[in-house]
Amino acid sequence: MDGNGRWAQKRLMPRAIGHVRGASNVVNVVKACIQNEIKYLTLFAFSTENWRRPPEEVSMLMDLFSQYLDKEITQMHKEGIRLRVIGDKKAFAPALQQRIQKVELKTFKNDRLHLIVAANYGGQWDVMQAVQAWQEQNPSRSVNAMTPKNLSEHLSTAGMPDPELLIRTGGESRISNFLLWQTAYTELYFTPIFWPDFDAAELQKSIDWYGERVRRFGQTDEQVRLQPILPPVPESTTTS
Ligand code: IPE
Ligand code: MG
Repeated sequence: MDGNGRWAQKRLMPRAIGHVRGASNVVNVVKACIQNEIKYLTLFAFSTENWRRPPEEVSMLMDLFSQYLDKEITQMHKEGIRLRVIGDKKAFAPALQQRIQKVELKTFKNDRLHLIVAANYGGQWDVMQAVQAWQEQNPSRSVNAMTPKNLSEHLSTAGMPDPELLIRTGGESRISNFLLWQTAYTELYFTPIFWPDFDAAELQKSIDWYGERVRRFGQTDEQVRLQPILPPVPESTTTS
């Protein structure tokens, strides 16, 4: 969700106003996803690198996150949204951690839309913690025995499908340490639109663009047309 600051600066307003508009836009995009019957939406709210921002901006973003959870919890639950936060939550203030836990518990049976908020999240952190978690569960085994499946099962996104489409607003064409492992075969959509302006119509444009992609997963065009079901990769090439 990039471009909040520039959205505000273009209007000669403080960056904080851009973040407020960005947070309220989340509600619109979530609604549009439900209308499109999208089952999983992951929002990159705060990266492990965003701590490098001025402390006032960091604390403003934390407050906004906390307020968002508090304000939207009832409505989210009513709409059948399950909310989960991925990232290293230990770094958050205890009150924010409790608030996150409260929303996750309240909504955990919901299934209409899985809303995943990546906060203090980094793709590199996720891969590292997955390896460490696997090793902790398998102390007698060497990491050489670990498979990609083992790793996936220990990522913070375990049990969730890999993203089909990644949208980055705000004009940059980079992943910036988002879901690195999980986006291996994701279609990447970059738009110059700033996040507060990314509305249902813009979402529709990205979905239409996605609809035109041919997802080959390593196969040739012809194979995909003749046999739409993906054969497994031979075992010997996926393990060491
Ligand atoms: C939002 O946009 C991203 C967050 C970390 C919340 P930015 O704050 O990066 O906006 P720009 O890139 O300065 O415009
Ligand atoms: Mg930015």
